[in-house]
Amino acid sequence: MTPDELIAACGGRDNLRRALKVSETVIIELGDPSLRTEQVASLPFNPALSQITWKQEVPLTADEWQYFSDIIDESIRQQISALRVTEPACFRPQWHIAPVQGMLNDPNGFTFHQGEYHLFHGLYQFSGKHKDRCWVHYTSPDLVNWTSHPVALCTSDWFDSHGVYSGHAVSQQDELVIIYTGNVRIGEQRDRLSTQCLATSADGIHFTKHGPLIDELPPGVTPHFRDPKIFRHHDHWIMLLGAQEETPDGTLRARLALYRSKDLRDWQYCGLYGETLNDGHFGYMWECPDLFEADGQLFSMLCPQGITSHSQFYTIPHHCGYVKATLDAEDNLSLREFRHLDHGFDFYAPQTTQAADGRRLLIGWMGMPDETRRPSTQEGWLHQLTCIRELTYQNGQLYQQPARELQQLRGAEKIIRFSGVSSREVVSLTSKCFELQTRFRWPQQGQITLRLMDNGEYYCDLILDADNQRIMLDRSHALPQDGDTLREIPWPDKQDVSVQLLADNASLEIFINDGRYVMTSSVFTPTDACRVQFISSHPCTWQDVSCWSLRQHATDTKVILKSSA
Ligand code: FRU
Repeated sequence: MTPDELIAACGGRDNLRRALKVSETVIIELGDPSLRTEQVASLPFNPALSQITWKQEVPLTADEWQYFSDIIDESIRQQISALRVTEPACFRPQWHIAPVQGMLNDPNGFTFHQGEYHLFHGLYQFSGKHKDRCWVHYTSPDLVNWTSHPVALCTSDWFDSHGVYSGHAVSQQDELVIIYTGNVRIGEQRDRLSTQCLATSADGIHFTKHGPLIDELPPGVTPHFRDPKIFRHHDHWIMLLGAQEETPDGTLRARLALYRSKDLRDWQYCGLYGETLNDGHFGYMWECPDLFEADGQLFSMLCPQGITSHSQFYTIPHHCGYVKATLDAEDNLSLREFRHLDHGFDFYAPQTTQAADGRRLLIGWMGMPDETRRPSTQEGWLHQLTCIRELTYQNGQLYQQPARELQQLRGAEKIIRFSGVSSREVVSLTSKCFELQTRFRWPQQGQITLRLMDNGEYYCDLILDADNQRIMLDRSHALPQDGDTLREIPWPDKQDVSVQLLADNASLEIFINDGRYVMTSSVFTPTDACRVQFISSHPCTWQDVSCWSLRQHATDTKVILKSSA
């Protein structure tokens, strides 16, 4: 049988879901198995997976594999273009990047290339489930206005059929080079295959996949091996990967795997690193590593899973933070002093890039793994990206501040002044898309509460809790969703608190003391919850509040549903 005869007997091109390679056997997954004809009746069929096994005497050529992937790619794009947007979508953000349909996760490939910023993110368009992710693609001249492009990478190939997983991009003269993890699951036991794959684009919009560059696991490493970060080090390239090492006694330890290359194609394995962090015991997996320099200090970002929680209120296994790093001339990496990067509920898998003017920029996923119950799923979408932030390293501390370009979203400044002493002030805003800046004297006793996105019944509280010397974020009075409801920042030094807060319908990003601490959170309250209250357990004098409404950015998000030409 030729591939064309097989496809016809499988019910035609539109019925092909995946073409998997197991050794030299071809496994074809079908959308509707009842469309199979007699011609394939003799081939082994697994009804649970809807998969046919086609053993070949002569292995398929690269062109034949490409033929299968082109068909699957076209079919996925057709299904995407048939999707319809659910309206109204009251929770959808006005100025953050969020999907119109489906579930978003990690930002990917954030890079500056030929005068524009490129940004991708993982998306499963067809439901709010953690499933076969593709990379969708945006570009921006200014970090504010984003244009969406055809899906950059679909799950169409034998090496990424169950997920175009996370990765980075680098700009190489005319070429935009992406290295990502191809995720494949085999059999009913869903054995995981992870390879590190290459894709390139000459026009910055259409991508050609070149398949796996690294298709073997390092010794002792499990298939939890993913999320390449690429960066230049002296005269060569380095790739960092999140890895899980299994020790002879069966213990699973998180590590970073490091590879080296001269040409971004041919990669040489250098080793596993991470034994300097917490005596080598710091969770069972580190996802989405990054490595960057800020004001002369090298940092690595990691998303450790399974570490001991730093707070009684933090009950989930997924964390995200940074460590100080050193990388010597022989490419030995050393990591120390893990700290959380964000103190809110929803911040994961951040990536950094260097701005055209040299600033270090960061964007993260405003969502968490395993948390899929959110009110926005009624509108067909789930999760969003954070705002873009500038990172600086000052006086031994890492600071995050909203990228200065975001000021372009502001309407006219409104200054709110409260006279005299009071224990409650109420400000009614016209929408839930706003920026607010103010300061608080640290209370001598009791609590000061900044009540946000409030309609009397639903709200989210930022609490300066003098009695317990901590700042709390409490979303237990918002609409229910998966995840924790309390977060804390210990505040033993009792210093005053400045707040810069960016709100966007169903999210709050709270920058405390010039970005020394950040609390990033999805918060769902009804559309009429536009009030902000200032509440104090003891009457006090309130500082002036500056407020701006934030306008919609110019992204035509609906374009995302168009298939590629
Ligand atoms: C983190 C993560 C990555 C992986 C991606 C898959 O959120 O699990 O490790 O590459 O999501 O979409």
